[in-house]
Amino acid sequence: MNHFQYKNGELFCEDVAVADIAKEVGTPFYLYSRATLNRHFQAFDSGFEGLDHITCFAVKSCSNVAILSLFARLGGGADIVSGGELFRALHAGIGPKKIIYSGVGKTEEELRYGLEAGILLFNVESEQELQRLNRVASEMGVTAPISFRVNPDVDAKTHAYISTGLAKNKFGIPIQEAVELYVQADAMEHVEVRGVSCHIGSQLTLISPFIEALRKIKAFVARLGDRGISIQYIDLGGGVGIIYDDEEPPHPKEYADAIREELSDLKATLIFEPGRVIVGNAGIMVTEVQYTKSNRGGEKEKHFVVVDAGMNDLTRPSLYGAFHAIQPVVEADGDPLVVDVVGPICETGDFLAKDRELPAVQQGDLLAVMSAGAYGFTMASNYNSRPRAAEVMVDGEQFEIIRERESMEALIRGEKIPGFLEK
Ligand SMILES: Cc1ncc(COP(=O)(O)O)c(C=O)c1O
Repeated sequence: MNHFQYKNGELFCEDVAVADIAKEVGTPFYLYSRATLNRHFQAFDSGFEGLDHITCFAVKSCSNVAILSLFARLGGGADIVSGGELFRALHAGIGPKKIIYSGVGKTEEELRYGLEAGILLFNVESEQELQRLNRVASEMGVTAPISFRVNPDVDAKTHAYISTGLAKNKFGIPIQEAVELYVQADAMEHVEVRGVSCHIGSQLTLISPFIEALRKIKAFVARLGDRGISIQYIDLGGGVGIIYDDEEPPHPKEYADAIREELSDLKATLIFEPGRVIVGNAGIMVTEVQYTKSNRGGEKEKHFVVVDAGMNDLTRPSLYGAFHAIQPVVEADGDPLVVDVVGPICETGDFLAKDRELPAVQQGDLLAVMSAGAYGFTMASNYNSRPRAAEVMVDGEQFEIIRERESMEALIRGEKIPGFLEK
């Protein structure tokens, strides 16, 4: 359930009319509902009540500091994948002992930053990263707490680009080879082995791949035990899917119950890295219709709705062919039409929806692109020199801009014309 609902034919976010926000903020903008963010965080976290666990929100899915700060207040930690995300998480008030660091390509500088901050765990993804981390920690005179991200070779049955737990994916260490790496790490002076982690993909709509991975992890932890290595943290990653269209993902409670059942005999702190399931349906993107046009002459007449948000603002449709429901902010009568909703970017791949039946819309109408809270703004770019959209949060009857629309000056910040061109 989310707090984007129609009242008398007008879309509201909690108790604020979306059109009123558009009037004040301009378009396009991302809009988040605080009540929905709260609700979804708690729906996930409370599933593990009574179990020792940390819900480390996947910062990559939605990284605005206001949202991170909200989760920090609800007791959440952070799953980060870059120095920039570490900076954001700390800035938002997330304690370092609730921060875990994933990712295949951590630089030396980033490892140093994580060590300085005193984060809970580095999820190490290769032998070379282990060597580097041990060296950097030794130079700093500290010990690095680690988990290895193991790749359990499980098919998450999701989109190929967001499947991460197969042997052919770049992530993690093959589970068959990982024991020897643990033994190697255990003997290192500046590394302390604490956990095991895995993340098999995103937008999973089935429970079975999670269970398959979990069973492999359990057997793996037992093998480590045989080698005298005990594990304090088991990190099961993120990945629970959401409804964009007609998917039927498991409810977070169902996911939690399945994990509870499987893990009842293990004594470890559980870590989760959910992103999409918490923020996906807690945010929308609002855009204004600029033009409508029809191209005749092809096999069939094609209708386009050109809006002021493009693939630079929300890239998921172009990148993955992802579906986002598109709804008018103010409901209108009129015959529906099958249209492509396209942006202003000079790419044929710049679309938000293809062959979609929409109620008749006109220039100046507002459209809400639903389920845009996850991997929406965080994947936005400045392509075509388009300033990035504003972000707004609603709380009951009030709203605040949580990120200003980018200015033209910001577009060229850091750029300069070299002196030699002036000669
Ligand atoms: C390591 C890791 N953890 C957590 C996540 C979050 O996944 P989701 O947003 O599907 O919960 C991802 C996303 O791909 C990831 O790569």
